[in-house]
Amino acid sequence: MTAETKKPAAQTENTMWGGRYTTGPAEIMEKINASIDFDKRMYAQDIGGSKAHCRMLMATGIITRADGEKILAGLDQILGEIEAGQFVFKRALEDIHMNVEARLTEIIGPAAGRLHTARSRNDQVALDVRLWVRDAVDRADVQLADLQAALVERAEEYAEAVMPGFTHLQTAQPVTFGHHLMAYVEMIARDRSRFQDARRRMNESPLGAAALAGTSFPIDRDMTAKDLGFDRPMANSLDAVADRDFALDYLAAASILATHLSRLAEEIVIWCSAQFRFVRLSDAFSTGSSIMPQKRNPDAAELVRGKSGRVIGALNTLLIVMKGLPMTYGKDMQEDKEPVFMVRDTLDLCISAMTGMVRDLTADVPSMRASTLPGFATATDLADWLVQSLDIPFREAHHITGSIVKLAETKGCDISELTLAQMHSVEPRITQDVFERLGIDNSVRSRISYGGTAPDQVRAQAKLWKERLS
Ligand code: ARG
Repeated sequence: MTAETKKPAAQTENTMWGGRYTTGPAEIMEKINASIDFDKRMYAQDIGGSKAHCRMLMATGIITRADGEKILAGLDQILGEIEAGQFVFKRALEDIHMNVEARLTEIIGPAAGRLHTARSRNDQVALDVRLWVRDAVDRADVQLADLQAALVERAEEYAEAVMPGFTHLQTAQPVTFGHHLMAYVEMIARDRSRFQDARRRMNESPLGAAALAGTSFPIDRDMTAKDLGFDRPMANSLDAVADRDFALDYLAAASILATHLSRLAEEIVIWCSAQFRFVRLSDAFSTGSSIMPQKRNPDAAELVRGKSGRVIGALNTLLIVMKGLPMTYGKDMQEDKEPVFMVRDTLDLCISAMTGMVRDLTADVPSMRASTLPGFATATDLADWLVQSLDIPFREAHHITGSIVKLAETKGCDISELTLAQMHSVEPRITQDVFERLGIDNSVRSRISYGGTAPDQVRAQAKLWKERLS
């Protein structure tokens, strides 16, 4: 070892586990080992967990009331110091757990050493991360409800605005813009329920598992579980310290959400293009080009689309970290935090930006309507009419309609612009009232089946969601 990589004993600051060590860690060892630079974000969970543990130690008589009171007061002081930005985090103390405990020792003296009775950093960190992820889930839920509210407001406003509905990004059938927006309300609802499922599963307390095997002290795990808002303590101590599936559940739900946000973002990008002109974002959500004065770029949408990559990447990161780990805790698991923290920050940003864009956008209703015309969006309506009015089997009606579309194509017009005589050259039984069915508004209004695009259906769904969200 060279002089730079080795630290002398005098610099060993780690009083938490330094008992059998004569020299401090190499500098690079300290650097790779320390998590304080990022896990300080869990200070509130760490202190909250420690306070619950302390109250239980007092209640069970494992520590004295006097020591317990000192510990609780000291922890409150530390919380205040951290929140006031006065706390000095030390890398030599590795992580948030040991930084807090070392400071507690400074404040209250040797009684601080009693806090870690019947506990290990293994159940402590499992607890902290769980509490942190549970908060992240709750935060996402509030934000997603607001995004849904924004979508519902706009859907009501555009319940009658017709636009082409696409499959294969080819004009398929006319739909309303309101219906299109409501589709995302449903997607986000499932995202919220995935987060809720994850929350339900993660809401068990690992505290009391100690290092991995449980403890010989007469602890009360039900008490700490209840104190911290958990439904129950985890039933197996090895599982409690070893698994991070709750974080994976969160990241998986986040990844699916990010995929939904990315699809909507992609649609906004397409809709804002000069070729589509379905939607306009105001100056507040557009950026310009330094060289092309005509440009109005939907950067926020592009970034929501782009940032989905990080979220999905984070899920992969943690899956790969976990997949080869033998039971129980391994230091590899310290790698759970950065992806989880980053995903929360990314979701925060992306959900808010998306909500902002949804509230900001204006639909170009005439332009949307105009673009439903090319592409024979009402061809299915013609086929349906042939079935309903002439009792022609659908397959045959489909074939007849295909020929009429071909005719319109050669004439360079829409099927609704063909004369009855021209239609008769394909199918002589067609009558004048077919034209009532072929207009775009007629087409949209006729889709009254449950979940269909008819404006009345869209309004009914929007109303239902307004009630659910209020
Ligand atoms: N900083 C560690 C982590 O995040 C805390 C747990 C350390 N446990 C241990 N046995 N070294 O995973």
